[in-house]
Amino acid sequence: MKKFKIAVIPGDGIGNEVMAEGIKILDTFAAIKGDISFEYQYFPWGCEYYLKTGNMMDANGLKVLKEFDAILLGAVGDPSVPDHVSLHGLLLKIRQGFNQYINLRPIKLLPGAPCPLKDKGPKDIDFVVIRENVEGEYAGVGGIRFPDMPEEIAIQTGVFTRKNTEKVMDYAFKLAQKRNKFNKVTNVTKSNALNYSMVFWDKIFKEIAEGYQDIKTETNHVDAVSMYFLQRPETYDVLVASNLFGDIITDLGAALQGGLGFAASGNLNLEKEYPSMFEPVHGSAPDIKDKGIANPIAMIWTAKMMLDFLLEDPDTEAIIEAITGVLLEGKTLTPDLKGNAKTHEVGDAVCQKLKMLLG
Ligand code: NAD
Ligand code: IPM
Ligand code: MN
Repeated sequence: MKKFKIAVIPGDGIGNEVMAEGIKILDTFAAIKGDISFEYQYFPWGCEYYLKTGNMMDANGLKVLKEFDAILLGAVGDPSVPDHVSLHGLLLKIRQGFNQYINLRPIKLLPGAPCPLKDKGPKDIDFVVIRENVEGEYAGVGGIRFPDMPEEIAIQTGVFTRKNTEKVMDYAFKLAQKRNKFNKVTNVTKSNALNYSMVFWDKIFKEIAEGYQDIKTETNHVDAVSMYFLQRPETYDVLVASNLFGDIITDLGAALQGGLGFAASGNLNLEKEYPSMFEPVHGSAPDIKDKGIANPIAMIWTAKMMLDFLLEDPDTEAIIEAITGVLLEGKTLTPDLKGNAKTHEVGDAVCQKLKMLLG
């Protein structure tokens, strides 16, 4: 019996609501397999915790989390706490503190999911964005000079290190080899304007590409990528992007795959010196919280990505098949998909399908 210790941080808003469905799929999968089990420890960290204690997480939080095999996170953020306080106090602290330098974000349109592009279908939308996850404009370097004066200046510096950039790019090339789709990596850049950071980024991309003669490369500026995602998404395979650009284009990617209710992600520390963290791309969605109508598919897909990181088992693909089954049946869908099902009903329906597929 393989036992995995999972730290569960449901967080805020719909994070709590979708988390239950992520756990449900893990338990269903474990029960079917019989030889794996999960031990969960829940952490009540988030904005409510902040309002009570003044901290988004405990002071020794990272030390506590370090002992787990993986972290599963719902979403962080609430209108009662400034976003930069809540996110830097919890989510970004874990990503950076645990050097989760890869953010793996698959963009895949499942059969039955609504695509906003009228001429495109599942065969056209199937690519992966590798987002650099600990540096760039997120490094927290900068400051405010002359606050509240007419001369006030805000500085937010992008930080790009050779070591980290090389590792992120190298992972993108290895993934293109593994996917074996077009054997292609697209470099997302903006070196026409950002004459230090992105010129450096392009240079490292070229250097790493040298070591992968079997992989084709292209370089697109991020503004053009935003257009090409809509015009010719079928030409993409693996894209590698800096932290901020990767953030922005993956919400656009989410729209291509049916909305934020479908977008899953993994924050990876490949060396396993620290636990990796898995979370849906979406936020806490204050506009629909407490209604029980959030789409849990992104969270379920995220749980599947966690399984793939923890074990090598081709059966995890059945989770995607189970989601697809529910979509094609069209009876149990949340309101974002024009249905009237509740979050937990979708979770139940996916688990039911998974039992039929694997049981
Ligand atoms: P959001 O992702 O929370 O919501 C954007 C829109 O998408 C909303 O209309 C929401 O209802 C909808 N939506 C998102 N997920 C959905 C789901 N699973 N099912 C159905 N509809 C869904 O983004 P936002 O409104 O920009 O941010 C809200 C809060 O979340 C802010 O505090 C923000 O900082 C935070 N945030 C956190 C994370 C994270 O924890 N990883 C990610 C993004 C935003
Ligand atoms: C995401 C989110 C976060 C990010 C925010 C909430 C800090 O938008 O995970 O995509 O920008 O990384
Ligand atoms: Mn984002």
